[in-house]
Amino acid sequence: MQTLQVDLAERSYPIYIGADLLQRADLLAQHIVGRQVAIVSNETVAPLYLAALESALAGYRVTSIVLPDGEAFKNWQTLQTIFDGLLGARHDRRTTVIALGGGVIGDMAGFAAACYQRGVNFIQIPTTLLSQVDSSVGGKTGINHPLGKNMVGAFYQPQAVLIDTRSLVTLPPRELSAGLAEVIKYGLICDEPFLGWLEANMTALRALDQVALTAAIERSCAAKARVVGADERESGVRATLNLGHTFGHAIETHMGYGVWLHGEAVAAGTVMALEMSCRLGWIDSNERDRCMRLFLAAGLPVVPPAEMTPEHFLEHMAVDKKVQDGQLRLVLLRAVGEAVVTSEYPRDILNATLSADYAALVARLNNQ
Ligand code: NAD
Ligand code: GLY
Repeated sequence: MQTLQVDLAERSYPIYIGADLLQRADLLAQHIVGRQVAIVSNETVAPLYLAALESALAGYRVTSIVLPDGEAFKNWQTLQTIFDGLLGARHDRRTTVIALGGGVIGDMAGFAAACYQRGVNFIQIPTTLLSQVDSSVGGKTGINHPLGKNMVGAFYQPQAVLIDTRSLVTLPPRELSAGLAEVIKYGLICDEPFLGWLEANMTALRALDQVALTAAIERSCAAKARVVGADERESGVRATLNLGHTFGHAIETHMGYGVWLHGEAVAAGTVMALEMSCRLGWIDSNERDRCMRLFLAAGLPVVPPAEMTPEHFLEHMAVDKKVQDGQLRLVLLRAVGEAVVTSEYPRDILNATLSADYAALVARLNNQ
């Protein structure tokens, strides 16, 4: 088992990474306060992993709250069912909420923990690649609003993150690819050599090779812990973690939550950010093409939905959380491995990016 640390003074916590951690009663016990535990999971993950976790928690009074599965349920109504479960079983302030599932469960259970009786203890057990490398670390919790992704929420750090790499064996290939989008992101924003490693190991990662997956998770979590440790509340460098997300959130909101997976929307959105960086002269077209090839090798879409016009993008992007004083700030690449957040770009370059022919770019790549 590998242990990383998120350094946030009194809110610091460990990230444990290894096989079969779900059953490690000793690790869980170190981070549980009181005798009451509420596990929040969903109807897909619960049949796979809930019994193992419940048996590791045999000494506690455990309530299991099983939610419907999907991004479309990341809303107020589902959050209310978590509170119904907690209050119905008379959970008090010394309850520990454990999220067992992907990013949707982690974001909702974390938000419920932040709100319930004004804040109770919280542990993340992420079971998708995306949640293991990104959403379980850093304390962003929340739900969607029909007008915008993740628009209602709180910063609320967990006591610990337990990443059981073995849980990925049941993950559908499309979901694995979605997680790889966030893994590639770390290479693009702050770790250029990691892109070479990913190019060399993509086949092993997609074949669920445990050694390759563990290495990718460790390197991604280390990057995320560094960034969050430097800027917990996103007043600076943390915003670079949103590379591709402004375009990507517009795709998710426009297409209807759950139609495009979050990681898929991030992949296509990141290609748009690469194209804009290229049009600004910050990266060259060979670098853009190299990154597009990596997304394609990961099994990810690189072309935004055909039905989305530039006007659709601008409408959704106007409610992005990076808008400040009416100015839309974008995460772009000054160089591969060096992201910047800026509102200083010519408007016509953004417009050209939104109306670029991405399908033609892919066709050219395929003919090379
Ligand atoms: P998800 O939670 O919807 O999980 C994807 C699917 O995989 C679901 O059907 C789930 O039930 C299933 N699943 C989960 N674990 C499984 C397993 N081990 N075996 C089989 N099936 C399994 O999606 P996700 O990609 O994990 O997370 C996306 C969400 O995370 C989005 O809502 C996004 O906004 C959020 N997010 C949050 C942050 C953050 O910092 N808080 C960062 C990135 C993404
Ligand atoms: N996934 C973006 C962040 O945690 O800041």
